[in-house]
Amino acid sequence: MDYKNSIDKNNIPKHVAVIMDGNGRWAKEKGKLRVFGHKNGVKAVQEVVEAATTIGVPYLTLYAFSTENWNRPKFEIKALMDLLVKSLEKELPTLMKNGVRLETIGDIEILPGSAAQRLKEVKEKTKDNTRLTLILALSYSSKWETAEALKSFALDVQEGKISAKDVNEETFRSYLQTADYPDPELMIRTSGEKRISNFLMWQLSYAELLFLDKYWPDFRMDDFYQAIYDYQNRERRFGKTSEQLKKSSDV
Ligand code: IPE
Ligand code: IPE
Ligand code: MG
Repeated sequence: MDYKNSIDKNNIPKHVAVIMDGNGRWAKEKGKLRVFGHKNGVKAVQEVVEAATTIGVPYLTLYAFSTENWNRPKFEIKALMDLLVKSLEKELPTLMKNGVRLETIGDIEILPGSAAQRLKEVKEKTKDNTRLTLILALSYSSKWETAEALKSFALDVQEGKISAKDVNEETFRSYLQTADYPDPELMIRTSGEKRISNFLMWQLSYAELLFLDKYWPDFRMDDFYQAIYDYQNRERRFGKTSEQLKKSSDV
């Protein structure tokens, strides 16, 4: 099936989030080291970014390194950070050419100096691009984000900038790392695992979830188009009944 051409151009999600999982198992199945899987995952990142740009998804968040991933062996962490630095360097011209603005969520301060520095540079250079906002979740977890949000809120209360009585959904949202982005309508996780692993817990409240039995290095543009097609064929009820939705689309 030609998924790309079956996509409804008037119903493109504004924000898609992806848990890029399965690099290690992909490599292991090939008798290689886990790091070989991470290296091959870069190709899949290029594909998902190109696909999102092609069909006009304005926000794409990629879970690249979680708070919990700091517990991995030191050499694997180093390989991932080196790969991040190298890829940022290599991809900058493509990001510029395709109008991609790079942003990050997560505890960027604790990344190794070279990675933090390179991220800062690429964010600065791409900041005026408007076609796609690519958000890398690095040293990110929802529980970390929630604790940080509460900390900032408490400080603002202490400084008299806001009162506890003013807390509602909107004010809470403004303290999250994702304050400037819409909530993802679709979350894709590769590798067959069916969990969200501390990723965007607040933001995914009403997202459609798609779990693919495919390892991240095998993910291609067409998988993204198929995911969007799948998303478009779901009924998003937001608590209402199916009949209510059908009625409102009649009028
Ligand atoms: C995803 O692949 C990459 C990161 C989490 C950094 P994994 O490294 O988790 O690969 P698996 O899940 O062990 O196969
Ligand atoms: C989630 O994958 C984090 C990223 C993809 C960056 P993990 O491989 O770390 O998740 P778990 O440990 O299987 O839940
Ligand atoms: Mg994994």
